[in-house]
Amino acid sequence: MDPDRRSLSTYDLLIEGRPLAEILVDTEVERVTIAPATTDLSSADIELVANERRSYLLKDALSAKDGAGNGLDYILIDCPPSLNLLTVNAMVAADSILIPLQSEFFALEGLSQLMLTIREIRQAANPSLRIEGVLLTMHDNRNRLAQQVERDARDTLGELVFETIVPRNVRVSEAPSFAIPVIDYDPMSKGSLAYKALADEIVARYQNTTAAVVEA
Ligand SMILES: Nc1ncnc2c1ncn2[C@@H]1O[C@H](COP(=O)(O)OP(=O)(O)OP(=O)(O)O)[C@@H](O)[C@H]1O
Ligand SMILES: [Mg+2]
Repeated sequence: MDPDRRSLSTYDLLIEGRPLAEILVDTEVERVTIAPATTDLSSADIELVANERRSYLLKDALSAKDGAGNGLDYILIDCPPSLNLLTVNAMVAADSILIPLQSEFFALEGLSQLMLTIREIRQAANPSLRIEGVLLTMHDNRNRLAQQVERDARDTLGELVFETIVPRNVRVSEAPSFAIPVIDYDPMSKGSLAYKALADEIVARYQNTTAAVVEA
């Protein structure tokens, strides 16, 4: 979306208590709406320190009667790359977490810290938080380090790692400047095909789960 179309943002949702319905903005993509963020949100971390429900603000906002009931099937919460109060709010509110992992040297190190945090959040606030999966991304298969990161990730995390890998692909990096998703910008690009394969993989997992529940 065009950043100029932001009036209210997730800052107003979390800090000012404005309902989600007021914040959502339609996009060019059918059936996708966005609750935009602005740089205001970067100060939220400090402003929230004294708030007793500081870890539950997003959960409260999404489960409020005027919040989640907006006919939304899925809510994707895009997190900052660091572990802070905003990330904690997301993990407390979420059913599951999808972890993008860049195929670089320090990637796995950051991941073990994240796994510890997920365990703590489960104990303290959200026992049913699942890990949806770990997605290897920005992957260059000619690079031996990237191959090593993939092997390590699959060895240590097993089935948590999605089979689908998103390759480094210039079309993915071009798409945002046109404010459209890469799968509309260049549907047959390697990046688009990877994201579609990821969607199929996730849908297939749910179909298996449903089947298993029915059989049981
Ligand atoms: N598979 C890819 N191939 C090439 N470029 C990519 C790919 N994925 C993302 N990029 C580019 O890398 C940059 C960072 O991507 P993105 O914004 O998705 O990462 P992020 O971790 O969410 O960053 P931020 O911390 O800013 O939110 C962007 O310029 C994006 O276009
Ligand atoms: Mg991001």
